[in-house]
Amino acid sequence: VADCFASGCLTGRQVLITAGPTRENIDPVRYLTNHSSGKMGFALAEAAAEAGARVTLVSGPVHLPTPDRVERIDVVSARDMLAACEAAMPCDLLIAAAAVADYRPQAVAPQKLKKDPNNDDGLLLQLVRNPDILATLAQRADRPFSVGFAAETENLLEYALRKLNAKNLDLIVANDVASPGIGFNSEENAVRVIDRAQRETRFAQTSKGRIARQLIAFIADRLDKA
Ligand code: CTP
Ligand code: CA
Repeated sequence: VADCFASGCLTGRQVLITAGPTRENIDPVRYLTNHSSGKMGFALAEAAAEAGARVTLVSGPVHLPTPDRVERIDVVSARDMLAACEAAMPCDLLIAAAAVADYRPQAVAPQKLKKDPNNDDGLLLQLVRNPDILATLAQRADRPFSVGFAAETENLLEYALRKLNAKNLDLIVANDVASPGIGFNSEENAVRVIDRAQRETRFAQTSKGRIARQLIAFIADRLDKA
C-alpha cells in the first residue's frame, strides 16, 4: 500500500468517483434520501489523488470538506448525478460509492403539499425508478474500469455477485451494513472485494481513510493488469 502512494500508482489516470446520498424532492420543502455520509467516497477521492490520479468527485448533499487536488461537482438528485458523470466521461476508472436513491417521486409538487382536510387517510406517493448511474457508465463502449459498492443487510456475497454481473463491473466492494460500527454513516468500515472470477479479497475493519488507501492500492494494481 505504501508503495502505491510513494510511486504514484494512479499517475496519468483519470478517475471518476460518486459519493454521498442523492436527494429526491417531493415538494419545495420535502425530499427522500438515505443515511449515506459520503465519507467512504470522499476518502477514496483523497486516496486516489494522493496516488497521483486526476480525480473528479461527483457528490450528493454531504457535510464534508473537498480533499486536496480533487475536482468536486455537487449534485442533488440521481438524474443530476448521472448528467454530471456523463459530462465527466471518458475516464480510466469509475468508483461508484454513492448511495443513489433507487426511486424518486413521479412529479415534484410545485407547491408545498397540504393535508386533505376531508379525510384522515394516509398519503400514497407514486415513485418511479431512477436511472442506474453505474450500470449506464459501465455499459458504454468507452466504459472505464468499473468498481461498484454493494451495501447489503443480508446475503452479502450472493447479492454482491449478482450486481457485479448485472452491471458489467470489474470489481464489487461488498459492505455488510447490518454489522454494528461499519458501513453507512459510521467512522470505520470492513469490506470484501469480489472480482469477475469470483475471487474474494478481505479488508479488515479499520478507519474509512485506511480502507480507502488499501482499496485504491488494490484497484490500481487490478487496473494495471486489465
Ligand atoms: N448505483 C448507481 N445508480 C443507482 C443505483 C445504484 O450508480 N441508481 C450504484 C451504487 O453507487 C453502487 C452500486 O450501484 O456502486 C450498487 O448499489 P446498491 O444500492 O447496492 O444496488 P442496487 O443496484 O440499487 O440494488 P438494490 O438497492 O435493489 O439492492
Ligand atoms: Ca439501491
